[in-house]
Amino acid sequence: MERLDKILAHLGTGTRKEVRSLIRAGLVTVDDTVITDPGYKIDPEHVKIEVDGQELAYLRHIYIMMNKPSGYITATEDRFQSTVLDLIDPSDWRRDLFPVGRLDKDTEGLLLLTNDGALAHMLTAPKYKVPKKYYFETMEEIDEKRLRTLLEGVDLGDFIAKATSVEKLGPKEGVLVIEEDKFHQVKRMCAALGYTIVYLERTEFGPLFLDRSLPRGGYRYLTEEELASLKEAVR
Ligand code: URA
Repeated sequence: MERLDKILAHLGTGTRKEVRSLIRAGLVTVDDTVITDPGYKIDPEHVKIEVDGQELAYLRHIYIMMNKPSGYITATEDRFQSTVLDLIDPSDWRRDLFPVGRLDKDTEGLLLLTNDGALAHMLTAPKYKVPKKYYFETMEEIDEKRLRTLLEGVDLGDFIAKATSVEKLGPKEGVLVIEEDKFHQVKRMCAALGYTIVYLERTEFGPLFLDRSLPRGGYRYLTEEELASLKEAVR
């Protein structure tokens, strides 16, 4: 927690004296409330600060849950293809926003975006074993016994990939949970059993569930509870 006048002065809004008069004049808001006390204490990473209507956007950490549609690559920019960042409204967009981990271009479902590098790093580091749940559909009929071999692990050449849980839902559909999440991992695990994935959707990421009220391509900010549970998952 830091004093409002100190934060604004640090950011070059003005000298400490100039900043204090701006605050006293009612030109500074914190989370949309006018603050006239220069000594007001805030956590700059978790509040929205505006000076004369302009947000000091680069300060705040933001956490977004997107329902990724097929057809968008998980990258921040690309010269030829649409990226998930193209789905972000200009009012929410910021230069340091990036996707946490990666979903293939044709994979749909729960994708997190944030500008909190430290949390993103932990969420994707193998050490923290954050589980990810995927729903999949295959071209071939699934043999339940064969599917369950994923629990023991399959050799993908460069590593042994394991599911921590797997369930057949229908002749050609199922769900599985993995902890690490390497390039094309689910597709490669299923391919190792002779199954071709024709549809893949991430439905859970750690403690978070895909919000089904979000349309494909839609997103929303995480709730306080969701954010707290995410941080708890990597403690
Ligand atoms: N595994 C895959 O094969 N693709 C994804 O998009 C995510 C996990």
